[in-house]
Amino acid sequence: MALLEVKNLGISFGGLRAVDDFNLTIEQGELYGLIGPNGAGKTTIFNLLTGVYKPTDGYIMLDGENITGKKTIEINRHGIARTFQNIRLFSELTVLDNVKAGLHNHHPYSTLTGILRLPKYYRVEKEMNERAMELLKVFGLDKEAYYKASNLPYGQQRKLEIARALATDPKLLLLDEPAAGMNPNETQELMKTIRFVRDEFHMTILLIEHDMKLVSGICERLTVLNFGQILAEGETTAVLNDPKVIAAYLGE
Ligand SMILES: Nc1ncnc2c1ncn2[C@@H]1O[C@H](COP(=O)(O)OP(=O)(O)OP(=O)(O)O)[C@@H](O)[C@H]1O
Ligand SMILES: [Mg+2]
Repeated sequence: MALLEVKNLGISFGGLRAVDDFNLTIEQGELYGLIGPNGAGKTTIFNLLTGVYKPTDGYIMLDGENITGKKTIEINRHGIARTFQNIRLFSELTVLDNVKAGLHNHHPYSTLTGILRLPKYYRVEKEMNERAMELLKVFGLDKEAYYKASNLPYGQQRKLEIARALATDPKLLLLDEPAAGMNPNETQELMKTIRFVRDEFHMTILLIEHDMKLVSGICERLTVLNFGQILAEGETTAVLNDPKVIAAYLGE
């Protein structure tokens, strides 16, 4: 059974068909790319997958469960975590607390336990600290754990967002242009980290990118979106050599 199965997904905004008849199947452990020019509908697909928008057509199955039309928080609990095209960190909190904010969404004690500071609260908090620090180590951010998030360089803020998304222990991680605004060295390093997360955590990742050269290095399969519709899909090299795809990109 595929981890994610999307069938005939569609949404309109007024007269604009932003996503039309979108189909996607992703297997557990895959690193899958979604590419396309500006305004193609990539972020809208993430918004549909995470319950920000409700589709007008189609359905979304995650690990055998129908999650179509569910609320964002429920979908997150079902196992989809995401990062955003524009960084959304708690800029006034520390790096560590940003990751813990992801963990808190899933904390195993009741609010009352937290308020009353019962022993379970301290035990769980200690475990959360340890888990958050482990994640920060993976991203090379452990030395900056007590920095204010907004004081990190841009490339590290982007990595912190991914660490925070992973803190919820998702089945599927959605990354919306994670390399946007990065310099070439930061981009290279980020790509290595994404590959590491997939290989070491066996994470399934759907990666949106604007720049097709960038995804071609790390994704096994791709879907190319154009004007809300699938232009091409399949194995990366074949897709990138597809004359339709080349024409769409040259015409940009
Ligand atoms: N809430 C909304 N209301 C109206 N139109 C919207 C809304 N969200 C997206 N759109 C439109 O849907 C189309 C697809 O937008 P989307 O943000 O998904 O593109 P994208 O592929 O992510 O582009 P980019 O590479 O610029 O991020 C665009 O024409 C956009 O203006
Ligand atoms: Mg976008």
